[in-house]
Amino acid sequence: MTQDSWLLLASMALLALAVALWLWGTSRTPLSSASAGGPGGGHFLHKGLPPGPRGLPFLGNLLDLGQDHLPSHLTRLARRYGPVYTLTCGSSTLVVLNSSDVIKEALVRKWSDFAGRPISYTGSLVSGGGRSISLGDYSEEWRVQRRLVHQTLQRYSHSSLQALVRRQALALREVLIGYNGRAVDLAEDFTVAASNVITTLTFEKEYGKESEELQQLHSCLNNIVSLWGSPWISALDSFPLLRKLPNRPFSRLLKEVARRDDIIGRHIKEYKLRDNQSEDSITSSLLKGIEQSIGSEDGVRLTDTHLHMATVDLLIGGTETTAAWLSWTLAFLLHRPQVQTQVYEEMCGVLEGRYPQYSDRPRLPVLGAVISEVLRLRPVAPLAVPHRALRDSSIAGYFIPKDTVIIPNLFGAHHDPSVWSEPNSFRPERFLEGGGGRARDLLAFGGGARLCLGETVARTELFLFTAYLLRDFLFLPGGEGAGLPDLEGEASVVLKVKSYKVIAVPRPLETDLAVGPPNQQSGDTAL
Ligand code: HEM
Repeated sequence: MTQDSWLLLASMALLALAVALWLWGTSRTPLSSASAGGPGGGHFLHKGLPPGPRGLPFLGNLLDLGQDHLPSHLTRLARRYGPVYTLTCGSSTLVVLNSSDVIKEALVRKWSDFAGRPISYTGSLVSGGGRSISLGDYSEEWRVQRRLVHQTLQRYSHSSLQALVRRQALALREVLIGYNGRAVDLAEDFTVAASNVITTLTFEKEYGKESEELQQLHSCLNNIVSLWGSPWISALDSFPLLRKLPNRPFSRLLKEVARRDDIIGRHIKEYKLRDNQSEDSITSSLLKGIEQSIGSEDGVRLTDTHLHMATVDLLIGGTETTAAWLSWTLAFLLHRPQVQTQVYEEMCGVLEGRYPQYSDRPRLPVLGAVISEVLRLRPVAPLAVPHRALRDSSIAGYFIPKDTVIIPNLFGAHHDPSVWSEPNSFRPERFLEGGGGRARDLLAFGGGARLCLGETVARTELFLFTAYLLRDFLFLPGGEGAGLPDLEGEASVVLKVKSYKVIAVPRPLETDLAVGPPNQQSGDTAL
């Protein structure tokens, strides 16, 4: 439990007491008459909902939801309560899905029942009144907005994406060479590279690491993501009475949202004034979509807010995820340096000195296996984004009433021992022929109607960035006493590795396979 969570719990307890006294004094209705004895203890729960851990009166399972590494905690609960269980928080009922089978049943097979997003007070404030793709509820308007962005991303992926990622990968190479073998934390460099892909896609702009504009944009988007994931803010959705109390994190969130809207608004305005807008950019495409939607027959009218929020979606969805994944990959490779050598040797054998292309994927299975294994062990959006049941439905035979919040625990599904042998070990070989790992059980990008909108962009980035980095450099531990990175990580909306340092040693241009990393370790890395 974090200090924040304890403070929150104390406030909640006081509030609960006040509410209980108030209810007792005004209605004289015994509290127990409103409880149906479900796992929440203080809530009416529909009969037939999956069972789950008993919660505190009024607060429900707030203590479970306030845990530091929530994906791991939810995974541990699944060992006790099974792959589907219920939690409550204030007036919300949450059903947590922890296996690939039940997640696919809800998100893919029954997608039309579970494609909604929870409609919440804070969600509406950060998403321009629900007009973002990631937080907007399922509606015709949302479908038109998502389709437009999806089509543009697909078009771009076929035409210019590879060249764009290659340019960023080469720029990253120059930055790493400039470190001259010093031990450095590369997290920020990865963020700049991933972010430049998205800012070029959206408004054709690239930034250097020192750019003040970029720093501002990132600090503001990062603050929004971490504040929005904090228990102080989510409590406002479940306990409306708390909105009446002063709440510093919430005031900060509102300020950051205003700053974000100012920065993005300025960019879009500048972009509109440019004469040389590329047909390919998301902004051009959405501006055209907005024009066409005026007077369209389906009655859907897109506005500047849809364009604004789609830009925010791509910047938030596409920057920290890819950057966090790259940091995880190097962290795991430092733990098993022989895998780094295998990838390098594979590239030397197949590419004969040239840089890889995305179409080389089938000829580089070891690299592909590393990418899959890191996506499995550390899905960077470990709990996806919460879904909402649009109608009464069922999962694994349990009744799921309309409006239930569904949490797909992708981290849990990827650590399910009935699907993955040695689920906690970094073993890319499980994805090689005969290794037993099935790529179809990976759910790192979610599934169904809400499948990650940037999956094609992300897959191109993961492949090319990793291939370029491992072709050009040998990575060695660079922490104090050359310690290896901690592999547990910090889980918020994005699952990130704790900061660590690494030394990037340039590989000789003429491939010299005799040179492998010193101090090779053998065996698996038990996490
Ligand atoms: C390693 C990289 C990435 C991973 C693992 C990842 C994973 C995910 C996951 C799990 C979801 C939630 C799916 C659900 O609600 O069921 C999601 C949604 C989303 N992602 Fe990604 N993502 C990645 C990169 C990207 C990139 C590069 C972009 C943008 C170019 C992006 C844009 C989005 C958007 C807009 C959504 C919301 C989709 C919707 O609600 O319909 N993501 N992503």
